[in-house]
Amino acid sequence: MIITKKVLRNVSLTAHPLGCRQYVQDQIDWVKQAKDGRYQTSDNLMLPKRVLVLGGSTGYGLSSRIVAAFAGKADTINVSFEREPSETKTATPGWYNTVAFEAEAKRAGLKAESIYGDAFSDATKEKTGNLIKELLGQVDLVIYSLASPLRTDPKTGITYRSVLKPIGKAFTALSVDMDSDQVKLATIEPAEGTQVEETVKVMGGEDWSLWIDYLLKENLLAPHAMTVAYSYIGPKITYPVYHEGTIGAAKDHLEASAALLTGKLEGIQGKAFVSVNKALVTRASSVIPVVPLYMALLYKVMKEKNLHEHCTQQIYRLFTDRLYANKPIETDEKGRIRVDDWEMRSDIQQEVEKRWALQKEGEVLKMGDLEGVREEYEHIHGFGFPSIDYEKDIDPRII
Ligand code: NAI
Repeated sequence: MIITKKVLRNVSLTAHPLGCRQYVQDQIDWVKQAKDGRYQTSDNLMLPKRVLVLGGSTGYGLSSRIVAAFAGKADTINVSFEREPSETKTATPGWYNTVAFEAEAKRAGLKAESIYGDAFSDATKEKTGNLIKELLGQVDLVIYSLASPLRTDPKTGITYRSVLKPIGKAFTALSVDMDSDQVKLATIEPAEGTQVEETVKVMGGEDWSLWIDYLLKENLLAPHAMTVAYSYIGPKITYPVYHEGTIGAAKDHLEASAALLTGKLEGIQGKAFVSVNKALVTRASSVIPVVPLYMALLYKVMKEKNLHEHCTQQIYRLFTDRLYANKPIETDEKGRIRVDDWEMRSDIQQEVEKRWALQKEGEVLKMGDLEGVREEYEHIHGFGFPSIDYEKDIDPRII
């Protein structure tokens, strides 16, 4: 079939196998070089050798797997939720990415396997535990990078749904229409009923804690093992819909869980951290209202100052300059690792605010990098690579 881009309400329905392979290969190639002057090299660092990535098929999780494998020569296991391809339907980008990554990792002599299933279920935890026993014995690092719209609690069988909404009152702000480039006013109604609690159930730290409890019980965490979950704070302008909204409440829960987990890991001298990462185009972030406008301005300003990073560069800095640098792990006053430090620099934020003030409803976005945002969105689904012939008839099952 000829695989074309199909997007419905900011969600891409298709992915291109060869483009996903290209996307993964580009990230791997960057890590193998990783020496563009802004980064330390990984040569003298004690990076972890056995890594479990929960949500390791796209976005920050995939980058974590790529950095672990290609900067640290780690064997890796990924757990993610995927749709496999059929003769007439493409797979999720995560499936294509994973097939491409695992082929490259194996070619480099590394172990790389995946469990496809619902990470929130007991059955997936057990399957993963068995695979760790068989393949790696124990793990040195567990990355928690799940982003999901729903979660079924394994104890009660109740399904909870996460929403991206303000709390208390509606939020109206400028947003951008990605089809017309036009700036529009968007109003997001506040969370109702149990939506705050439900979002915390899905995106908070409960499932992360269940994973660590399970791995500890089964003796699958090596001495000094670490676990890291990802979070976001962002600028004041998006606080109502993010930091102070339903997802912010979930991230508060995630942070509180990190402290509790560090207590549980004391016996093996392990540690749990939350890492606050930069705003980047991923499948999860592109559906957040108002955020694409912020990202378009942020990308432009950060690119102008040579501070822009993609997911893999962020995670490379997390591994080599924070978690496994030859220095104590740097955290903020709340114990969080901050690789959003460049994004949050006052000169960057001031410039973004200045440009935000120039935007007018009904006009096209000014002084932003919508092209960059759009290109990244295409890339994460395997589209927009000049090296690929998108007119060619291919079998979506072959990568
Ligand atoms: P993403 O959508 O690219 O990745 C999510 C991953 O979770 C995928 O591998 C997906 O297969 C997996 N997943 C979802 N539901 C699952 C389930 N039930 N069972 C197994 N796997 C499942 O998302 P992204 O953006 O990389 O997000 C990962 C984390 O990073 C989230 O906690 C997010 O809040 C955080 N983060 C994202 C930022 C951004 O701007 N994209 C910024 C800072 C933090």
